[in-house]
Amino acid sequence: MPIAPLRPARPVRSFVRREGRMTPAQRRALEDLWPVYGIDGGIALLEWEMVFGDLRPVTLEIGFGDGESLRAMAQEAPEAGFIGIDPHRPGAGRFLRDLAHDDIQNVRVIVGDAAEVIPKRVPPASLDRILVFFPDPWPKKRHHKRRLLSGAFLKELADRLKSGGSLQVATDWPEYGKEILAAIDQLPTLENTAGIGTFSPRPAWRPLTKYERRGLQLGHGVFDIAAQRRP
Ligand SMILES: C[S@@+](CC[C@H](N)C(=O)[O-])C[C@H]1O[C@@H](n2cnc3c(N)ncnc32)[C@H](O)[C@@H]1O
Repeated sequence: MPIAPLRPARPVRSFVRREGRMTPAQRRALEDLWPVYGIDGGIALLEWEMVFGDLRPVTLEIGFGDGESLRAMAQEAPEAGFIGIDPHRPGAGRFLRDLAHDDIQNVRVIVGDAAEVIPKRVPPASLDRILVFFPDPWPKKRHHKRRLLSGAFLKELADRLKSGGSLQVATDWPEYGKEILAAIDQLPTLENTAGIGTFSPRPAWRPLTKYERRGLQLGHGVFDIAAQRRP
């Protein structure tokens, strides 16, 4: 009987690659502006001091989409450093163009899967804040395994926060939100700052995102989650 060749198991991803729709302008922006804003792929541990050229508080936003929130936060705090990770290249191309247009200097971009990049390349206890605004909700039961914010991944995120650092999540999917709350309560390294199993009020500093705006127009609720890295 022929033996099937051994193939490594394909990881379950939280996104589906749809690269076809990159416009020429997005492609050009990715090429021309990558040396300014891009963090190259690789396996080496990143050093934020090298990335920004000095020591500064660093915020990481996972799944920045069109980058609206990162842009707003970076403009508000030019003394801080901001890193965005998203696997969607056309969105990254548009975002790089917007960063250059606004002459924003304190943002760097990784095009990739946060579930792969963070465990491999982000040093432990190196981040001041991690933000995840409207992660894909994957509403169908058979797709729940694709949800990014699993207990295992939340543990990885907690390990990358400095002591006292914060994790801020927003979702318009209450059942996903409750799953995240429960996972946080299971982790000895994170404390839900609103109290066990409780959503948090929307922080005044959190910018409105494109996905959130669309959800609000459709009448969706918004659920914020805030946690702090225990010492
Ligand atoms: C629903 S959109 C929200 C975008 C944006 N945060 C907003 O609120 O408008 C989810 C985003 O997460 C990104 N994403 C999905 N899986 C990801 C992963 N594993 N790592 C990083 N980003 C991811 C998607 O490409 C997409 O941009």
